[in-house]
Amino acid sequence: MLLMAAPTLLVLFGSQTGTAQDTAERIGRQAQRRRFHVRVEALDSYNVVSLISEPLVVFVCSTTGQGDPPDNMKSFWRFLFRKSLPAGSLCRLDCAVLGLGDSSYPRFNFVAKKLHKRLIQLGANPLLPVGLGDEQHDLGQDAVIDPWLSAFWERSLELYPLPVGVSVLSEDVLLPSRYELHFLDDVTNGLSLEPPDRDTPLSAPPSQLHPFLARMVSNQRVTHSSHFQDVRLIDFDITGSQIQFSAGDVVMIQPQNSPEDVDQFCQLLHLDPDRFFTLTPRDNAPVPARLPQTCSVRFLLERFLDISSVPKRSFFELLGGFATNELEREKLRELSSAQGQEDLHSYCTRPRRTALEVLSDFPHTTTALSIEYLLDLFPEIKPRSFSIASSLQVHPGRIQILLAVVMFKTRIHRPRRGLCSTWLASQDPEQGVVRVPLWVKKGGLKFPTDQDTPVIMVGPGTGVAPFRAAIQERVSQGRRGNYLFFGCRQESMDFYCRSEWEELVRAGSLTLFTAFSRDQEDKVYVQHRVREHGRLLWDLIVNEKAHFYIAGNAKQMPAAVTDALKSVFESEGRLSAAESEELLAELERLGRFQSETWS
Ligand code: 2AM
Repeated sequence: MLLMAAPTLLVLFGSQTGTAQDTAERIGRQAQRRRFHVRVEALDSYNVVSLISEPLVVFVCSTTGQGDPPDNMKSFWRFLFRKSLPAGSLCRLDCAVLGLGDSSYPRFNFVAKKLHKRLIQLGANPLLPVGLGDEQHDLGQDAVIDPWLSAFWERSLELYPLPVGVSVLSEDVLLPSRYELHFLDDVTNGLSLEPPDRDTPLSAPPSQLHPFLARMVSNQRVTHSSHFQDVRLIDFDITGSQIQFSAGDVVMIQPQNSPEDVDQFCQLLHLDPDRFFTLTPRDNAPVPARLPQTCSVRFLLERFLDISSVPKRSFFELLGGFATNELEREKLRELSSAQGQEDLHSYCTRPRRTALEVLSDFPHTTTALSIEYLLDLFPEIKPRSFSIASSLQVHPGRIQILLAVVMFKTRIHRPRRGLCSTWLASQDPEQGVVRVPLWVKKGGLKFPTDQDTPVIMVGPGTGVAPFRAAIQERVSQGRRGNYLFFGCRQESMDFYCRSEWEELVRAGSLTLFTAFSRDQEDKVYVQHRVREHGRLLWDLIVNEKAHFYIAGNAKQMPAAVTDALKSVFESEGRLSAAESEELLAELERLGRFQSETWS
């Protein structure tokens, strides 16, 4: 009898917030149930040259911001669009592209669509049209993804039929974990969690794999203590790190779970945090590079596994396999089914319920849940990015950020808290040394390099961070022409950096316009100030070739400021609406209109 080897399927994902990764892993498990030999990998950790010899690949990619690929597929993207790639190079590849997007953005699923076209151009054979998941769909992305996946499996099983007598493995069969885990009971103190010797010179600039453990120098609240929002100015010492940056760049910070959450997790799962283990990947699973070879349970839970974020659908799918109680198993099956997605949304996603809270709601899963599966259940803690708020010229050896502490209420009793901001805000460098793993990335905002170009910067709230860096840098180089529009709620509550701005204004280095939205009956926003100072702005942009920047996190703000600018073009420049639109597009093309927004 001829034994057929299992067909190979590769699932490659580009994911910014983890949803595309979650979907990719779900596809991976579905493939295992269909007896494929499967690998799931982030696009940038995959050796892209090997694509020419892959038989079947599913690409799962989200689209971020203005139609950009997620960070973990950026080098793949650059490679794939090289002009030198020969047209038929992927002619042996069967592929399928699944996009995750949001139709409220103009470039809906741009990355997936462009990838699909490019793969065809390179000779690949798509098994079905590109899937266009949509965040705006009433029933969420999965309302599009599930039928797309059914069609995909139908096509794949036509190409790679199951051997006679073999069927698709049922959902009740627990698949093996991606890693084997061996406890090392003779190791009790194999690893120090402390930073390496700081005198050791670094061979390369810090990165996600080798972050710099920066010392927190100060952590100062800059909003009034009675203001609803806690905003911090945090100062890190990066002496000896080889980190270089300029205004507009971004610092990446690797946060960690709180000791309370780690303790609670250990209690729920009856784990001893002080035990050590080693991991062996099964089936080519990628080795988790950030984990030390000999790792403690505490390190895994505190630094690596994201136990306090809102779990996604595949978490429920996998957890169902460990329920020892019928009722809980049923409920978990339902929450991970296609029909249960609305329930999952109202139980978990909308109220922002954390994985830890879900585990406490399903106590009959935790006794049977083996530690090996933790790496399948929980994603890795993602680094967070912050616009750098200081200049190396003014603060050598330092990085400063303006951090808004994320805390809000939902129908769940305990307030929801952002992992990174809560962790950073809770650190007190006066009580002992605080080390924070960080590295730096190029940011989206670029400031002019020539001496005379003025800059107009609109940055309400923490949106002012990159402009503080730019203003410091420019003033230290003796450049004039710095115009800042800053908005906050009340002059007495959240007008942070006020004294710095006032000093620069007095010295003639800065022109400042403020909008205090709640200091009077009617709301006054930065866009109102832009309109009021239309004549000046028109003159600066047209006659002095000024650059215009917007940064911030208010959802509607960037569009409202852009509209205000267009109305200035219409009123001051006497342009029609279409001509204003054209002028804006032209400025954008020249890099003279830039924005960086975050949520
Ligand atoms: P508000 O909270 O009073 O509405 C920084 O957060 C500042 O941005 C606050 O003054 C906030 O005002 C303001 N803000 C909120 N929404 C905005 C919008 N759509 N456009 C401009 N500013 C906005």
